[in-house]
Amino acid sequence: MESPVFKERNELKGLLLSGGTGTRLRPLTYSGPKQLLPVANKPILFYAIENLRQAGITDLGVIVGENARHVKERLKDGHELGVQISYITQKQPLGLAHAVKTASSFLQNQSFVMILGDTLLDQGICSFVDHYRAVNPVAAVLVSRVKEPEHYGVVRVENQRVVQLIEKPKSFISDLALTGIYAFSPRIHEAIESITPSARGELEITDALQWLVTQNEEVIFQIHPGWWKDTGRPADLLEANRLLLHDQKPCLEGYADPFTRVTGNVRIERGARITHSTLIGPLVIGRNAHIEDAVIGPYTTIGHEANIKRAELADSILLDRCQIDGPIRLSRSLIGRETVIHKTKYEAGWIHLILGDTSRCDL
Ligand code: G1P
Repeated sequence: MESPVFKERNELKGLLLSGGTGTRLRPLTYSGPKQLLPVANKPILFYAIENLRQAGITDLGVIVGENARHVKERLKDGHELGVQISYITQKQPLGLAHAVKTASSFLQNQSFVMILGDTLLDQGICSFVDHYRAVNPVAAVLVSRVKEPEHYGVVRVENQRVVQLIEKPKSFISDLALTGIYAFSPRIHEAIESITPSARGELEITDALQWLVTQNEEVIFQIHPGWWKDTGRPADLLEANRLLLHDQKPCLEGYADPFTRVTGNVRIERGARITHSTLIGPLVIGRNAHIEDAVIGPYTTIGHEANIKRAELADSILLDRCQIDGPIRLSRSLIGRETVIHKTKYEAGWIHLILGDTSRCDL
């Protein structure tokens, strides 16, 4: 028989948003959605799924847009990730509240936790979800203090309750930003029916929440105690990479020869082979990657089956199967899948590159 805890834990559904065009991450997003870009060798979207699963939420709806094919190929029915996935197509990116509306037949009359698929944070969402379950308000938002609140939806709070929300405020009302992690009771659907599109032509979930507040409904909040990143731009992706690598568990499943020096938090995945190199953690080297005569790290992610020779790489993300043949010094770079970089002449300075999948670069 199901335990009462298990039953209660399963009452929430999960809604994961994986549409959007990822324009600020071009050229990397020409060949796939940003939510599938790997950070510390795991697609961004997988972190959100793990967070939901750890909070006991396994019945997930994934909203997909024009990149549906890539997301479906990667997540399949979800069982490899310990969840069950239903796909919901949002034909046009008309806003977060519009996405909820599109998912109404999946959500039915159940409460749910919604996560924007490009969100990364430490410490997971268990405490947020447990708090929502304990208080059982109409809605709850996870917020984080930010330096530039004008770029986010922000909330003003009083006595444990949200009293005002504004999307991208022009003048300061608060530095507490919506992180893109929400919990809703079915009342949110009525709120969404009551709002109209914003100046940017979208049905904003922030406006739906403000409608609830105006109706004197209880909207609660929790301030996220750790770091949180919305991975919209290359610099955000690199920062998220640094933060995740810093917190990763070291492991040595591949092979490093006796001429290789290893310091700090280093993950060498299965089948990887490193010779005559220096590895300075935090870093991860993906499955079956080959590294030769190189200095890697700190804060560097090397994708699976990459092939790197005569290179110094720091503070960068290299995707699967890319090939680099130096002498070359690369930092603050994002290198797409199967990209080939070939350099013949040594130069003392560092190069910074952002290259999409299957590029070819002779320097
Ligand atoms: C969206 C939400 C905003 C929230 C942000 C978090 O903004 O509308 O309220 O603070 O995500 O990343 P957008 O990314 O659409 O500008």
